[in-house]
Amino acid sequence: MIERAAEALSTSRRILVFTGAGISTESGIPDFRGPQGLWKRFDPSDYTYNRYLTDREFREQSWKRHFESPYLSAVPNDAHRAVTLLWESGRSIGCVTQNIDGLHAAAGLPNRALVEVHGNAHTAHCISCGAEPTLSDIEQRWRSGDTDPRCGSCGGILKTKIVYFGEDLPTEAIARAWRMTEDADAVLVVGSSLCVYPAAFIPLDVVDRGHPLVIVNQGATDHDFRAAALIDGPAATVLPLLIDRLLA
Ligand code: APR
Repeated sequence: MIERAAEALSTSRRILVFTGAGISTESGIPDFRGPQGLWKRFDPSDYTYNRYLTDREFREQSWKRHFESPYLSAVPNDAHRAVTLLWESGRSIGCVTQNIDGLHAAAGLPNRALVEVHGNAHTAHCISCGAEPTLSDIEQRWRSGDTDPRCGSCGGILKTKIVYFGEDLPTEAIARAWRMTEDADAVLVVGSSLCVYPAAFIPLDVVDRGHPLVIVNQGATDHDFRAAALIDGPAATVLPLLIDRLLA
């Protein structure tokens, strides 16, 4: 598997890496559709932007879940570090991630090489005036009993910058991602079921342009049939092996 994947990427010098929740499970963050996935325990249709805006109890539950979630305390694993190593080698144009955990940045990938198309759990904003209080400020207020913290400037609803279902994707991030697909000469998908759109259109655009797709994933994805090579294994183990082989 590793040899075939390295061969498929051997002539590529502008690899776009596309990651999903599977790259972070070995950092203690559950994925959504894997065997222990969140959507096996919660109904995703509950997590809508409209419900967040209109249902105070849901907002209070969201803040509680957020400050008690593994996102904020997780640390990068060897797969995140392998993505950074590939970028530092000059063979990758960067990473588009669906993840909101901030672990690619924590693994040393600079902002210019990272696009977070579903937002980031470490930042928040006022949905009315756009003010951006720090998450630690909001957390301090939440831990003091303010269960539905409001904007200090205009009294508006505060929300983390995690994209909820029904919420627009960050336009600047999406535009950057499409520019990367135009520049890429291969795409390496790590830890994604490739079943959520428009995000999944991003790696598929590189394939549509005639470039190779390599998938590192435990279990099948929706687009395995389009891959030049598949590595079915835990990303924190197999991705460093692939990158080492590629850069050897
Ligand atoms: N190594 C490799 N693959 C893994 C690992 C691992 N350690 N752990 C899990 N996986 C695989 C799972 O088997 C699954 O196929 O990663 C894939 C993760 O798929 P999803 O859970 O669907 O996550 P993702 O593709 O990121 O979901 C996309 O859906 O709910 C929305 O906004 C959410 O960004 C998310 C989007």
